[in-house]
Amino acid sequence: MRHPRAERREPSRREFLHAGAVCAAAAGTCLCGAGGCKMISGVGATPALAGECYTLHAAPRHLEVHLARAAELARAGGSAKLLDRQLPEPLILASPQLGRYVAVSLGCTHGGRELEYDHEGQRFRCVSFGGSEFALDGARLAGPAERALNAYPTRLDGNRLVVALDPARDKLTLDADSERW
Ligand code: FES
Repeated sequence: MRHPRAERREPSRREFLHAGAVCAAAAGTCLCGAGGCKMISGVGATPALAGECYTLHAAPRHLEVHLARAAELARAGGSAKLLDRQLPEPLILASPQLGRYVAVSLGCTHGGRELEYDHEGQRFRCVSFGGSEFALDGARLAGPAERALNAYPTRLDGNRLVVALDPARDKLTLDADSERW
């Protein structure tokens, strides 16, 4: 009878993958390809706005972004996320055109992964493998998500971007001069 320790056993798939991950980590190698890390972590590459870039107000509940301090939003195509606990939910702000802004939920309605702004496609895309897509007004366009995002009306007031923090009941207008709230 052979000693049990002498028996050779093929590693299970789980053991094999674990060993590979440990080796890759030891070698300082990232296993993720383009976008892969974002898919696994669920966190996008959009920069978060620093606290000095915005002010939250209680009545009516709104957010003021000081654009002179928010370089991420100073150009068409720029975007930034807000993770402040006093917000109704994490938000992503984007500028589809110079001087125009949209604000929607940061979390995908499928599984809560972060969204990123795709300026070329004029839409928001989930970083997860599902890759749900949403229009600038939060409407669902593609992917496994079934619900639209919450969209928050925006208004430009000089060098301040004002975002109403009660989600819009109907479609968000992209008119920067809107006074709907
Ligand atoms: S979490 Fe966005 S598609 Fe699944």
